[in-house]
Amino acid sequence: MAHRIGYLIGSLAHDSINRVVATALVKLAPPSLEMVEIPIRDLPLYNRDDELDPVAAVTTFKHAVERAEGLLIVSPEYNRSIPGALKNAIDWGSRPWGHNSFARKPTGIIGASTGAIGTAVMQSSMRSVLSFLNAPQLNAPEAYLTYRPEMFGPDGTVEDAGTKKFLEHYMEEYAAFVERVLSLTAPGHVGDQD
Ligand SMILES: Cc1cc2nc3c(=O)[nH]c(=O)nc-3n(C[C@H](O)[C@H](O)[C@H](O)COP(=O)(O)O)c2cc1C
Repeated sequence: MAHRIGYLIGSLAHDSINRVVATALVKLAPPSLEMVEIPIRDLPLYNRDDELDPVAAVTTFKHAVERAEGLLIVSPEYNRSIPGALKNAIDWGSRPWGHNSFARKPTGIIGASTGAIGTAVMQSSMRSVLSFLNAPQLNAPEAYLTYRPEMFGPDGTVEDAGTKKFLEHYMEEYAAFVERVLSLTAPGHVGDQD
């Protein structure tokens, strides 16, 4: 059976270039992955006062993360860091203490920006956050995309041959990484930790 992968898009914009990239990645994903978006749009601002009795949007979000066997983060870089809406979602998912929904989820990080370094600084910040949350991450290939409109069609088809080959390779490597992590964290595996 295919592994359920939840993907989070770090931009709320309707014409988001990262949404275009995510759509392309869904199309290019190997059949071993079932790609499902985990929306972040309806989450309120994180408030510790509401952790134990959150609104339904928070519970829905946490359940979706927990149900996923792996996660893929597709995000822009805002002011050389993680967009606030995405960090807010991660903060909700990480709490309450002892109920971190991200633990052990094999996670890929990819992003597109209009700038030359293609979200490299956001990805570096994200790696620190996910390491703290005990989410194993695909280290290579790294994927820093400098977006050009001619790279993609509106329906997420990849028009540029080199970009298509690279993204296909990225998804194959991500799928192999998911298999590796899931086989190591299967119940009863000797290396399991609680
Ligand atoms: C608040 C804000 C901050 C931004 N900061 C960066 C940045 O640090 N680095 C970068 O490469 N692009 C930056 N950009 C430009 C984004 O790459 C560009 O807006 C991109 O389209 C955002 O992705 P999206 O279309 O998926 O929302 C910034 C844009 C906004 C709105």
